[in-house]
Amino acid sequence: MKVTWNLPDGAQITADVQTGTNMMEAAVANNVPGVIGECGGNLSCATCHVYVDAGWTDRTGDAEDFEDAMLDVAEAERRPESRLSCQIEASDDLDGLVLIVPQP
Ligand code: FES
Repeated sequence: MKVTWNLPDGAQITADVQTGTNMMEAAVANNVPGVIGECGGNLSCATCHVYVDAGWTDRTGDAEDFEDAMLDVAEAERRPESRLSCQIEASDDLDGLVLIVPQP
């Protein structure tokens, strides 16, 4: 599947991501600035915070309870479309997904 990250400076990074890979791992592998993934995807750092593009929120779904709590401590402003990208897994359903990297 393809994923595009929109960066705060207006640049975009698009990459092919294998099914089953999470969006934090994919961002780190593709050198997306601003997605750190300090805890390795264990839901304990919130440094993988992204905004899901409005057209995709139905398909990525809602944050689970613990993710929801972690989003409250994310550094950037929380929005309704905020997700921790380590909790979004690549699948054929999400082909073309657009994620927005928060302003630092
Ligand atoms: Fe730490 Fe997602 S990588 S919460």
